[in-house]
Amino acid sequence: MILDRQNPLSLADITQAIAALSESLPEFETPQDIEDITKFGRDFEALMQGYRGAMQEISTKLEILDDEYQTKYSHNPIHHIERRLKSVRSIAGKLLAHDLPLDIDSIENNIFDIAGIRVMCNYIDDVYAIASMLSRQSDIRILEVKDYIKHPKESGYRSLHVIYSIPVFLTTGAKDIPVEVQFRTISMDYWASLEHRLRYKSENNPERVAKHAQTLQNAARELYDIDVSLQNVHRDLVSAPREDHI
Ligand code: GTP
Ligand code: MG
Repeated sequence: MILDRQNPLSLADITQAIAALSESLPEFETPQDIEDITKFGRDFEALMQGYRGAMQEISTKLEILDDEYQTKYSHNPIHHIERRLKSVRSIAGKLLAHDLPLDIDSIENNIFDIAGIRVMCNYIDDVYAIASMLSRQSDIRILEVKDYIKHPKESGYRSLHVIYSIPVFLTTGAKDIPVEVQFRTISMDYWASLEHRLRYKSENNPERVAKHAQTLQNAARELYDIDVSLQNVHRDLVSAPREDHI
């Protein structure tokens, strides 16, 4: 099951967002002129088309793997998939945070999570199985791997992050486009959603974040222990080849 976390963007949405950015971020070099904004909006829309294609290509690969795995081992490694394209606002925010210009080249050269896919699995074994099968495919390249399952963040955050590059065949020919895939178990996702919400809702309230930090760290460890216990039961029921890295 794939959940799209946003509606497709229209050129009007993009130009409106850029115009709003010019006003709300005066320190930022956004195109001011109406014509400039429309030109940027058109180029941005074309750029996003490529990222959308790359996101669809990887999603389809994941669905094919999940289907075949089910047929072979009577188990679906993927519980569900979520995907989204980064909004104009967060792209601009990220560039601004790193003192980079808001233009098409700068977006393409500096931001690798514009196309984002989150793959939720039942068990840790599933995370590594599906990530390894995808990573071995001959038409995609791995640009970066961050294994926060083996090396969790200080917050307690766990997930396997991989940035892939995949060729997308557009009207002008093939273009290699990056997609960030975050693989995690359902319990890692449940934890990350709450922790993200706490931080998001507490931007001006660091005391609240600090107050819950220890509880969240403890919960992350307990959830991981439960993931391992349930996985061990599941191993007794399903005999599929196991991988523990990609
Ligand atoms: P970026 O420039 O954002 O890519 O920073 P980075 O490369 O240092 O971070 P990384 O790619 O490792 O992780 C970025 C994404 O992982 C975030 O957008 C979140 O979705 C997720 N993430 C990373 N750390 C945490 C965390 O501590 N809590 C939660 N809830 N999510 C996290
Ligand atoms: Mg990153």
